[in-house]
Amino acid sequence: MKTTLHVLAAGAALLAGCFQDSTAQHSTFLPLDYEARFQAVRTCRAVAGHGLGYQRVLANDVAQAPYTTGSYPLPTGAVVVAEQHAESSCTSLTGFYLMAKESPGYDTATADWHWQRLDANQRVLEDGRLQKCSSCHAPAPCNDYLCSPP
Ligand code: HEC
Repeated sequence: MKTTLHVLAAGAALLAGCFQDSTAQHSTFLPLDYEARFQAVRTCRAVAGHGLGYQRVLANDVAQAPYTTGSYPLPTGAVVVAEQHAESSCTSLTGFYLMAKESPGYDTATADWHWQRLDANQRVLEDGRLQKCSSCHAPAPCNDYLCSPP
């Protein structure tokens, strides 16, 4: 009986561990070494949209040219990420807001953007077709749901 309980307890601990991991995965859109692979496309600045704070926007290889030249819509595979910071030098990271352009049909109503909010360790807190993100990113002056002015 004691052994059974131990086995059950071990199983429960294992399951709890799994659940914890599955709700806090690293974003598959943001490589852990993204700073070496992504390009900064907007300088550090105070933001209006994401609460109080500062942000710096970076883009992957697919997104960089169309984002900086403003050729909308961005192609499938484009990833644009806003690093959120607590102070005006953008050196104390608090998390990320990320947009990834999926294949046509992922979410036709909102230009096939996949939205994510990440913690400072790049773990996913919110994920998918997030209406709370897309609804604010829809109106002008945003283009293809991209809002950060040059
Ligand atoms: C209340 C409005 C609002 C909401 C809600 C919002 N954003 Fe934004 N977002 C903005 C604005 C405005 C900017 C441009 C920078 C600025 O001035 O704040 C921006 C910039 C960005 C950028 C930089 C790329 C660009 O040019 O737009 C990303 C990435 C982003 N947001 C992702 C998200 C994600 C993901 C969510 C939801 C978890 C979200 N945003 C929710 C208003 C919003």
